[in-house]
Amino acid sequence: MMIFSVGVLLLPLVCSQPQGWLSSPDHPLAYPSNSSKNWTLCASPGFAVSLTLIHLDLENSTDCKHDALKIFIGNNLKKSLCGKMSFMGMPSSNNLQFHSASGGCLYIYFYSDDSHPQVHTGFNAFYQTQDVDECTGQSNPCSHFCYNFIGGFRCSCPHGYLLSHNVTCEAIKCAKPKPLQNGHVKFVKGSKNEYLSVIKYDCNEPYYIAKEKHYGNYTCSAAQIWKENGNNILPSCHYVCGQHKLKSQFGRIFGGKPAPPGSFPWQVYLQISSSRGGAFIIGEKWLMTAAHNLVQDTTPIRKEQIQAYAGHNDLNEMEKFITLNISSIHIHENYTADYDNDIGLIKLKSPITFSENIRPLCLPPKITDGKTKRGLVSGYGITEKFSTADKLMYVDINTVDQHTCRTSFEKERKEDDSFPSVTDNMFCAGVSGGGKDSCSGDSGSAFVVQEKGVYCAVGIVSWGLRTCGTAGKYGVYTQVSQYLDWINKTMSENQ
Ligand SMILES: *[C@@H]1O[C@H](CO)[C@@H](O)[C@H](O)[C@H]1NC(C)=O
Ligand SMILES: *[C@@H]1O[C@H](CO)[C@@H](O)[C@H](O)[C@H]1NC(C)=O
Ligand SMILES: *[C@@H]1O[C@H](CO)[C@@H](O)[C@H](O)[C@H]1NC(C)=O
Ligand SMILES: *[C@@H]1O[C@H](CO)[C@@H](O)[C@H](O)[C@H]1NC(C)=O
Ligand SMILES: *[C@@H]1O[C@H](CO)[C@@H](O)[C@H](O)[C@H]1NC(C)=O
Ligand SMILES: *[C@@H]1O[C@H](CO)[C@@H](O)[C@H](O)[C@H]1NC(C)=O
Ligand SMILES: *[C@@H]1O[C@H](CO)[C@@H](O)[C@H](O)[C@H]1NC(C)=O
Ligand SMILES: *[C@@H]1O[C@H](CO)[C@@H](O)[C@H](O)[C@H]1NC(C)=O
Repeated sequence: MMIFSVGVLLLPLVCSQPQGWLSSPDHPLAYPSNSSKNWTLCASPGFAVSLTLIHLDLENSTDCKHDALKIFIGNNLKKSLCGKMSFMGMPSSNNLQFHSASGGCLYIYFYSDDSHPQVHTGFNAFYQTQDVDECTGQSNPCSHFCYNFIGGFRCSCPHGYLLSHNVTCEAIKCAKPKPLQNGHVKFVKGSKNEYLSVIKYDCNEPYYIAKEKHYGNYTCSAAQIWKENGNNILPSCHYVCGQHKLKSQFGRIFGGKPAPPGSFPWQVYLQISSSRGGAFIIGEKWLMTAAHNLVQDTTPIRKEQIQAYAGHNDLNEMEKFITLNISSIHIHENYTADYDNDIGLIKLKSPITFSENIRPLCLPPKITDGKTKRGLVSGYGITEKFSTADKLMYVDINTVDQHTCRTSFEKERKEDDSFPSVTDNMFCAGVSGGGKDSCSGDSGSAFVVQEKGVYCAVGIVSWGLRTCGTAGKYGVYTQVSQYLDWINKTMSENQ
């Protein structure tokens, strides 16, 4: 088991046994003149080799310059011996002993010169290898607990510490918790990311919620990572659509009321060249509007020609508005100047962080039941005073059936061939007595209907008579439910 490594320098080697004897040539007889002999004794790591002198009888001289036995521990000359000493029968503590370092070597060098006045019997010594107890004394290499074993040692650490570089105990620590997008993290137990401290991730409610069920506490594990029930996947926070601040009874903006702060957080104000229009938020990076806002004289406008603002209900507070930077414009390919397929999407450069005053609308369900619905329209368009609104206005109006709507425009269509027809991609809304309507400048804003507690973008303000709010006439809206596949496709293809 114990093996001496082979000396690189000196010969002969006496290293193949864990213990044995070394002696001068011809011992116990007299050693010859002009003789010389070297031994190398090396120990494996975790062991040390020791040499014990039993007998010494060399020609005596000052500094042993004639005959000598020299013992090196590693590279250091430990002792030059000559003269006569007898160790036999003496307590071993008085014997001359030499110990190598753990895994180190002893080098022994014997020589005699040619002057030889008397007979000398040389030397005899015993060597052996022994386990080194690394754990005792000041040399204990472990920062905490040390266990010696034959040929080595082991360090170990108290609970909550991790052994590093085999000897040092370091406190188990996790990295600073990763930030959660649209959420936050807090300490439930402990604070300094130490072992067994617990953190909890929460989404920034009510604007974002977590989708995953496992969403809970994460503990700083022995592996120095934050883990929740064995996994270390962060929850993801999804935005909540169709909510606003007010619980409300709400009122096309013709005949409408000023919208209280936070009441239409999806409303976007569009400045298109010098005219105004509306749009609304339907996703972190997506706005929806009427296609006709995005086309001028049959030419799609450039994104540089539009400014989009959100986050406030008063245009005079414009500098406080959040400017939404536009990355691309997507107009429905079948949009025609007579307002068929009057829908367009605007993609933003960076996602919006939703908050009280800036939140998205939900998309409507695909199937519409055709029943009359009460909805809300908001916008900065022309009011009944025939001036544009600087404060966001809203009206509550009902949808009307397709027949009533088409009939209401019969006279105009007879007088003007180019008057648009009400297609199945449109629906009408208003009040038959007039007075409430959307109007010029509201185009592109949303007609929202509350379905199952959330507001859905059921319609987009599209067109109507120049004389908004006329009795027996209605505003015409793009039927968003017809376009869910187009919206999905456009959003998927432009991520
Ligand atoms: C023994 O070692 C000494 C010192 O390194 C060296 O001078 C000498 O030549 C060696 N003798 C033999 C026989 O190897
Ligand atoms: C060896 O020699 C030295 C000086 O020559 C002397 O001091 C010493 O006592 C002698 N030792 C023995 C054991 O003869
Ligand atoms: C020892 O060596 C020297 C020089 O190499 C030589 O002169 C002498 O005769 C030798 N002595 C013996 C006893 O061999
Ligand atoms: C720790 O010990 C192992 C096995 O004893 C060894 O392979 C490794 O190199 C050591 N690491 C350090 C950093 O000392
Ligand atoms: C998270 O830890 C807190 C405090 O220890 C505890 O009250 C809560 O129930 C834990 N939540 C989960 C989901 O485990
Ligand atoms: C839009 O871009 C401007 C200028 O690069 C920047 O200051 C502003 O923060 C951006 N707005 C948003 C909502 O990212
Ligand atoms: C546009 O109209 C054409 C011809 O009716 C039709 O094939 C195509 O699917 C329409 N595009 C979309 C996006 O609906
Ligand atoms: C589009 O529809 C597919 C299939 O229903 C759905 O998995 C995907 O999330 C939708 N994409 C968007 C951007 O809504």
